[in-house]
Amino acid sequence: MCGIVGYIGKRDVAPLLLEGLQRLEYRGYDSAGIAVGGKSGLKTVKAKGRVRGLDDKLPKRFAGTSGIAHTRWATHGAPNDENAHPHLDAEGRVAIVHNGIIDNASELRAKLTADGVEFASETDSEVLAHLIGRDPADTLEEKVRHALRLVEGTYGIAVLHAGFPDRIVVARNGSPVVLGIGEKEMFVSSDVAALVSHTRQVVTLDDGEMATVKADDYRTYTTEGSHTSASPTTVEWEAESYDMGGHDTYMHKEISEQADAVDRVLRGRIDDRFATVHLGGLNLDAREARGVRRVKILGCGSAYHAGQIGAQMIEELARIPADAEPASEFRYRNAVVDPETLYIAVSQSGETYDTLAAVQELKRKGARVLGVVNVVGSAIARETDGGVYVHAGPEVCVVSTKCFTNTAVAFALLALHLGRIRDLSVADGKRIIAGLRKLPGQIEEILANEDRIAELAAEYADAKSMMFVGRVRGYPVAREASLKLKEVSYVHAEAYPASELKHGPLALIEPAVPTVAIVPDDDLLEKNRATLEEIKARSGRILAVAHQEQEKADHTLLVPRNEVELDPILMGIPLQLLAYHSALALGRDIDKPRNLAKSVTVE
Ligand code: F6R
Repeated sequence: MCGIVGYIGKRDVAPLLLEGLQRLEYRGYDSAGIAVGGKSGLKTVKAKGRVRGLDDKLPKRFAGTSGIAHTRWATHGAPNDENAHPHLDAEGRVAIVHNGIIDNASELRAKLTADGVEFASETDSEVLAHLIGRDPADTLEEKVRHALRLVEGTYGIAVLHAGFPDRIVVARNGSPVVLGIGEKEMFVSSDVAALVSHTRQVVTLDDGEMATVKADDYRTYTTEGSHTSASPTTVEWEAESYDMGGHDTYMHKEISEQADAVDRVLRGRIDDRFATVHLGGLNLDAREARGVRRVKILGCGSAYHAGQIGAQMIEELARIPADAEPASEFRYRNAVVDPETLYIAVSQSGETYDTLAAVQELKRKGARVLGVVNVVGSAIARETDGGVYVHAGPEVCVVSTKCFTNTAVAFALLALHLGRIRDLSVADGKRIIAGLRKLPGQIEEILANEDRIAELAAEYADAKSMMFVGRVRGYPVAREASLKLKEVSYVHAEAYPASELKHGPLALIEPAVPTVAIVPDDDLLEKNRATLEEIKARSGRILAVAHQEQEKADHTLLVPRNEVELDPILMGIPLQLLAYHSALALGRDIDKPRNLAKSVTVE
């Protein structure tokens, strides 16, 4: 998704902005651009394609000490040089970069066109540049405020004005904006990833907030003009955690660091004495937890799948009816909001617009909403009443791996916590804690099998399509594995509950459509074996992920046994590697799969 970087200080701005844009490449984009302010006004360069291409296009003399830059992910208008940001007003004195979508852009464009404004792009964002440029107010802040009053939709914007060279004005509504505080220099960005190599002191703007950023000062206020006191926080993540660390791709790095990541989500939370866990930020006391009648988990994509695993764990361990639903569906269906239901929003980035919108709708209706979030201080983390941080560290690859695993572990902690407040026995609490402690070592064991998984990926690389099946605990694992394969390797994949196979999809089974079957040693083992028989009888090839060799499978990937409730956490990990090696064998752009973006901050 789009990314914003800005700088004002004493240093030459272009190299800093380009470095910032490179740090945001992981979010996915199709064009990039940069504007710098100097004595002679604003200079802009834009290019379709990669940041490297933009760098090649920069003229030798492109000096300046303030500037804004952008990576664009096309929504309105094709990815090309004209539609890339920054956009200028008619005089070329205002440059803006914008993340989000302006819903009433066509209406505003029609009015401006009728007034004689000529547009240089097809984007919704360009209207903002013209509105700011034409506003008669004396200050840049007022001009921006007036323009924002006219637009409907979401935005994170940064504005540079040739008439006000000492400042950048930024504003946020539904799309993240952070300020980075340096020594007599300030940064702005949509993502701390672009800032952490320069400063870890950041200010995160709230929706409806603006800021004036100067080299040695900043001030925040609402879009209505009242002063706000946004105080700086320190980003925990080191700049090095954004580096590739000797791996060829972020995806491989992030898969490989899962044992450490799981260790982090467990650290300091286990209470052996009472066979439970402490979750400091939950803001749900024992009496309130006992009053919960249902749990509804909301998230998108992999976060939703982790939520499905979480719902099963909560039902099994805490005996509270629980289910997960895509946040993107929930927010549109005027759901009945029940005061005795605990709502949980799940998100790696904490900025996914669909999930955030579901949280806002729930809050408006008086629901209690918790967050299971990775990015500390992100919008969802701030909008929820409390929650559990996932502590996976930054996830840079567009496809989620370590965050998915850590989110599932965070749900196991929550389920144990709720269970021990309700009817889970001390003995069962101890059993789950012992299982949780085993996870990092068992993840290492699975990862040690990578060569074999790579061989299997080559073996199945000729598949026309892949079927992923699992029963109950295995079903969300199958869904996540199927998503992983299709998004990174572009091989078509479908996930089905194993029990549903004979109700239709069995018709697809043939040698060119192999099945990956999740077959844990749980109470459904025999049922799952029967499914393998059904597939084999139709000449289907089978790769089983199991705790013991499966006779009917062509290949079995063995995974160490844990407690049955925790098995789904481990069973997905070899399939992340399968997706990775399939993509590698097919020569895909692993960290930036086509058409996808890391955090989907638009509708
Ligand atoms: C898949 C993937 C996406 C995200 C989804 C939600 O690999 O990464 O499906 O899980 O877009 O993102 P977050 O978790 O940031 O809300």
